[in-house]
Amino acid sequence: MKKLFTIALAFAAMSSAAWAETIKVGVVGPFSGPFALQGKNFKAGIDAWFALNGNKVGGNDIQIVYRDVPQADPARSKALAQELVVREGVQYLAGFYFTPDAMAATALLQQANVPMVVMNAATSAIVAASPQVLRTSFTTWQTTTPIAKVAKDQGVTKVITLVSDYGPGIDAETAFKTAFAKEGGQVVESVRMPLSTNDFAPLMQRIKDSGAQGLFTFLPSGPPTLAFVKAFNDNGLKAAGVKFYATGDLTQESDLPALGEAGLGLQTTFHYAVSHDSPENKAFVAAAEKAIGNPAELSFPAVGAFDGMYVISKMIEATGGKQDAKKAVEAVKGLSWISPRGPVTIDAESRHITENIYLREVAKDANGKYYNKEIQTFEKQGDPGLAFVKK
Ligand code: PHB
Repeated sequence: MKKLFTIALAFAAMSSAAWAETIKVGVVGPFSGPFALQGKNFKAGIDAWFALNGNKVGGNDIQIVYRDVPQADPARSKALAQELVVREGVQYLAGFYFTPDAMAATALLQQANVPMVVMNAATSAIVAASPQVLRTSFTTWQTTTPIAKVAKDQGVTKVITLVSDYGPGIDAETAFKTAFAKEGGQVVESVRMPLSTNDFAPLMQRIKDSGAQGLFTFLPSGPPTLAFVKAFNDNGLKAAGVKFYATGDLTQESDLPALGEAGLGLQTTFHYAVSHDSPENKAFVAAAEKAIGNPAELSFPAVGAFDGMYVISKMIEATGGKQDAKKAVEAVKGLSWISPRGPVTIDAESRHITENIYLREVAKDANGKYYNKEIQTFEKQGDPGLAFVKK
């Protein structure tokens, strides 16, 4: 009798094991090279999500398979995404720090029956490239539009724009021009820099020569943003009274110690500050700091990844773990929740995230730690860039 019972138990365990699936999620990002810290933040956000929620959804185990694309490299991104789908059998693709990498992978989704959750790449057009793309980060249209109003409110009427010459930079330039014109301001000159630019001193002279009262800039967060802000300070532009306006990519928290006192007072608009004051963010930051090891390294890609995991968990729940990309994506259209950044919704039509955008200023707390202090909230911002995406 006892033996029979043991056999029955073993059988039950076997059959439940057969039902429970391991659902693989392929995450593509920069995990080595100059942008490795950004990829490390993807991983910290994902690990924080597992720490707070466990790694099972409806009895199915979630397993992450990471692939490294150190710099914007669409061919490598596409090849790795393909390998993840074909060889690893991933049911979801996620991550994607740089726009060209995300764009390249969208071509695979339909045939592979795989949804893709963009955790960073910020060009408006990405969600329009395939109905199977969702995004939990931001767009540069979304983060740039409010700073044009801030500049005008501060009495600035003539601005020069400097952006990286690729998708999110061109979107940011167009967004600033469009929003600033609406405010009655004028963009006197627009400069596009190659993505590989790392010597910004010549550009600083150009800003001085333009006669603009203010500068608007976008570069992808990482070593170039730190070098750019340093050049702005070192070349006397701050001292000359040229006002600095940028998206939060330029003042990510992990860069603030290196900027030091020179960073104080820099104003940026962005969807997330590590200092955001809410119970959801406190829980997230505690888990993400533990995951990343060095709290000073925590930055915004972690929140895009954390929320991306939430969306993936909801898709797994809705499909019962079965591979059905269309059903999965349908299930999260219109999904609302409280993110560590504040209230958010996956817009049912665009599949991009609606969120608050905050005006922040670099400040120093009582312990001498630099942080982005939120000083104004632009609530429930959708993506104004979608209206400009060619269909
Ligand atoms: C992008 O390539 O879309 C991108 C990368 C880094 C950022 C923002 C946008 O900080």
